[in-house]
Amino acid sequence: MYAVVLLVCCSWVALLCPSVQAYENLALKKPAWQSSTDISGYTEAERAVDGRYTDLSVLGGQCAASGRGQTAEWRVDLGGVKYIHHVFIQYATGNEVWDENNFWTTFFLGTSVYISNTTNKEDGVLCFRDTIYTPATIPNPVNITCPYLGRYVIYYNNRTHPPYPEGYSEYAYTVLCEVEVYGCPTPERYGENCSLLCPENCNCDVIGNTCVECVSGYKGHLCYEECDDHTYGLECNNSCGKCSAGVKCDHVTGSCQNGCIVGMYGDRCDKECDNKTYGLDCRESCGNCSNGEPCHHVNGNCQFGCDDGVFGLKCITVCPTGRYGANCAKTCGPNCQGCNRLNGVCEFGCHPEWTGSYCEKRSFTIIWNDRGDETHLIG
Ligand SMILES: *[C@@H]1O[C@H](CO)[C@@H](O)[C@H](O)[C@H]1NC(C)=O
Ligand SMILES: *[C@@H]1O[C@H](CO)[C@@H](O)[C@H](O)[C@H]1NC(C)=O
Ligand SMILES: *[C@@H]1O[C@H](CO)[C@@H](O)[C@H](O)[C@H]1NC(C)=O
Ligand SMILES: *[C@@H]1O[C@H](CO)[C@@H](O)[C@H](O)[C@H]1NC(C)=O
Ligand SMILES: *[C@@H]1O[C@H](CO)[C@@H](O)[C@H](O)[C@H]1NC(C)=O
Ligand SMILES: *[C@@H]1O[C@H](CO)[C@@H](O)[C@H](O)[C@H]1NC(C)=O
Ligand SMILES: *[C@@H]1O[C@H](CO)[C@@H](O)[C@H](O)[C@H]1NC(C)=O
Repeated sequence: MYAVVLLVCCSWVALLCPSVQAYENLALKKPAWQSSTDISGYTEAERAVDGRYTDLSVLGGQCAASGRGQTAEWRVDLGGVKYIHHVFIQYATGNEVWDENNFWTTFFLGTSVYISNTTNKEDGVLCFRDTIYTPATIPNPVNITCPYLGRYVIYYNNRTHPPYPEGYSEYAYTVLCEVEVYGCPTPERYGENCSLLCPENCNCDVIGNTCVECVSGYKGHLCYEECDDHTYGLECNNSCGKCSAGVKCDHVTGSCQNGCIVGMYGDRCDKECDNKTYGLDCRESCGNCSNGEPCHHVNGNCQFGCDDGVFGLKCITVCPTGRYGANCAKTCGPNCQGCNRLNGVCEFGCHPEWTGSYCEKRSFTIIWNDRGDETHLIG
C-alpha cells in the first residue's frame, strides 16, 4: 500500500521523489570477459573490475590485458538490465606520467564503448568512438557519459583499416586497469543521482524524466493500466486468442488460464485445431473428408463432402449395404451381392448367372450332354 501511495505521489510531482540512492559502480566484481588474454597470467578480464587501480603497470596484477590482435574486445556483465549513467575507464600508464610520450597512449587511441543487452555489441548502442584524440590529447582516466538501459558494457578497439592515424599502435589490445560503470542499482530508480522513481511498469529514460515505454501488458501515460480485455503484450498491441468461456487472457503473456474454446488450441488459444483434429482441446479426429481435406475445427463437419466409403456431415458413417463411393452416392450393381463400399467391386459374389467385378456380365453355364460334348449356354 505504501508503495502505491508513493508512486501516486511521484506521478503528481513529475516523478520527482526524495533521493535515497546515488550512482553506484554496477561493474564491481561482476563477471568480465575479453577476446584473448595475455599469457603472463596477471591480466585476466576480471582484473578490470576488481576495484583496484593503484598500480597502473600492465603486469601489476590490477589490469586486464589481451594478447595482440586486429581487434580487441572486453566486456562486463552487470547481471541484468540497469540504468547506466556513465562509464569510467582507467587505462594502463605503466605508472608513468600520462602525456604524449607515454607508451600506452598508442593502444588507447581509437577506442569504442558500447552498451548492449546481449554479448554482441552490434545489438546495442555505441556510446563513444574515438576519432579525434592524439597521444597528446587523449585523457586517462576518462568518463564516458552513456545514459542507456543495458546489461553489458563492451570496450572495443580495432586496427583493421590501415593506414592508421598518427600515433596509433599497429595492433589492438585491451589494457584496462579499471572499468567502473555508474548507474542506478535498482531498476525502478533512474535519472540524475537515481533521484527519480520510475513507475513500476514503465521503462524510463535514464536522463529524462518520462516514461518512455510501458513494459509488456501495461499502457497509459505512467503505465498504471493493464491492457484492456482481449489485448496483451507490448503496447497492448496483440489480441487475445479464444480463451474458454470468454475469459480474458493474461495481459502480459496472452495465455489463457482455463483452456480454449472448442476448436482452438495452444497456450494462447490462437491456433485452430489442425492435423485433422477438431473439438474441445482438439481431442476428436476428423472423419474421411473428400480429397483428404481437414474437417471444420469446431464441429468436425467436412466442407466438401466425403471420401469413398463414408457419408454424413462428419463422414464417419460407413456406407450401408448396397451403396459405395464418395458420400455413398453410388449403388452397387443390380446383380451384386453387396459391393465393396470404396470402389463398388462385388467382392461378396454375384446373383446366379452373373459375373465380372461388378457382376455386369452374364456367366456361362456349362452343360454336359450324354455324348460327352459340351454345350455352352448363355444365361
Ligand atoms: C535493453 O532492454 C531494455 C528493455 O528491457 C530496453 O529498454 C533498452 O533500450 C535495451 N538497451 C539496449 C542498449 O538495447
Ligand atoms: C567522473 O565522473 C565522476 C562523477 O560524475 C566524478 O566524480 C569523477 O571525478 C569523474 N572523473 C573524471 C576522470 O572525469
Ligand atoms: C575500426 O573499424 C572502423 C569500422 O568499423 C573503421 O572505420 C576504422 O577505420 C577502424 N580503425 C582502425 C584504426 O582500423
Ligand atoms: C545530484 O548530486 C549532485 C552532487 O551531490 C548534486 O549537485 C545535484 O544537484 C544532484 N542532482 C539532483 C537532480 O538531485
Ligand atoms: C503497436 O501498434 C502501433 C500502431 O499500429 C505501432 O505503431 C507500434 O509500432 C506497435 N508496437 C509494437 C511494439 O509492435
Ligand atoms: C499438429 O502438428 C504440428 C506438427 O507436428 C504440431 O506442432 C501441432 O501441435 C499439432 N496440432 C495439434 C492440434 O496437436
Ligand atoms: C478413412 O481413410 C483411411 C485412410 O485412407 C482408411 O484407412 C480408413 O479405413 C477410412 N475410414 C473409413 C471409415 O472409411
